[in-house]
Amino acid sequence: MLFLLDSANIEDARVCAKWGWVKGVTTNPNILAKSGKPARESLQKLKKTIKGPIFYQLTGDSIKTMVEEANDAYDILKKRLVLKIPATTLGFEACAELSDKYPCAVTSIFSPAQALVANAAGAKYALYYHNRAIRLMEDGKDLSKNLVSILKGTGTAVVAASLKSPQEIFEARQAGVKIMTTTLEVLTQLTVHDLSNQAVADFDENGIGI
Ligand code: E4P
Repeated sequence: MLFLLDSANIEDARVCAKWGWVKGVTTNPNILAKSGKPARESLQKLKKTIKGPIFYQLTGDSIKTMVEEANDAYDILKKRLVLKIPATTLGFEACAELSDKYPCAVTSIFSPAQALVANAAGAKYALYYHNRAIRLMEDGKDLSKNLVSILKGTGTAVVAASLKSPQEIFEARQAGVKIMTTTLEVLTQLTVHDLSNQAVADFDENGIGI
């Protein structure tokens, strides 16, 4: 399993870095805007705060501007950069253009067909939006298992994003997804169970250690 933090908040990244089991960060333009800092500054701080890949999403609206933006992002993040590229006709073209130079993650995938194109364009990762697919599409609950099955053995790994609860993480894992990105809140929820806390309270009260 690989868990990634879906946030550009430096405090969130600090917590995850301390935990040690969250091994990278995903961002998107909205997440960067929410941090309230210039995107460049957030990326520099994330790089210093937490180990692992940092996903940066291209915002350019032409191949030329996307290539320039990718090179800029590389100047900031160096080998830590994973380029997120939206699943659009232009995005797939950008992925094909850039995937020999940088690891690319096609994002906002909502169909198996888009995942096949992501693979053909050289993407290392295919990100789909788990919660949105379930909420907004009639057959959304089948998306995760279909993506895992068609990308198996291709060199493009499925990443579940837009995960809003431990239950959704369980669903994605049951479908075969091994990489998940989610908020600090959901990551924290993964670590907690009332019965575990009760068991520990009992050990504290009645047990001894060295
Ligand atoms: C992660 O890479 C995605 O940008 C994110 O999980 C989208 O989730 P949302 O549905 O909460 O916007």
